[in-house]
Amino acid sequence: AADIGMDLEKVLISEDELQAKISELAARIDADYAGEKLLIVGVLKGAVMVMADLARALRTPLEMDWMAVSSYGAGTKSSGVVRVMKDLDTDIAGRHVLVVEDIIDSGLTLSWLVHNLESRNPASVGICALLRKPDALKVDLDVKYVGFDIPNEFVIGYGLDYAERYRNLPFIGTLAPHVYGGAKS
Ligand code: PRP
Ligand code: MN
Ligand code: MG
Repeated sequence: AADIGMDLEKVLISEDELQAKISELAARIDADYAGEKLLIVGVLKGAVMVMADLARALRTPLEMDWMAVSSYGAGTKSSGVVRVMKDLDTDIAGRHVLVVEDIIDSGLTLSWLVHNLESRNPASVGICALLRKPDALKVDLDVKYVGFDIPNEFVIGYGLDYAERYRNLPFIGTLAPHVYGGAKS
């Protein structure tokens, strides 16, 4: 279907709800990092929207950097074995790093990434994830800032894709099962 109306099952989180939550997260982050300088690290590509909005809501002095990572291995999406397609431009030794993600699904990507970043001797590594699926989590992950805990459904929009589409939707929606065949992501 060419029309998103055909592919969308429902709006899960509206544009207003997203922006309100981002403001709330930014206020908490500003309070926690008061007096510090922050490096926020976005995980390409899904985190593009939340990074752009969060960065504009934060008042803490910050720099932005990006990593692109890809899980590989036959079959499953997140094998936990991660290949770095683009590394940070920045040396993070001694710095306060906040990793910004769109979603924690199995948690394997972030688990690997946090360990990788911690080996570079930063002052701290924190996680801010807009969405988390508690029922899909496979690892123990200490996430200080979570926007929304959501059901284990296939979600799209606001950076999240299905086969690279729908990232530009300004809200989070669920994909109609006829589009992807009904399997959970
Ligand atoms: C998605 C999402 C997270 C990751 C979460 O990225 O943006 O980065 O999967 O999955 P996990 O918790 O099970 O590891 P994806 O690999 O689809 O790349 P993308 O951000 O470019 O869409
Ligand atoms: Mn991603
Ligand atoms: Mg994706």
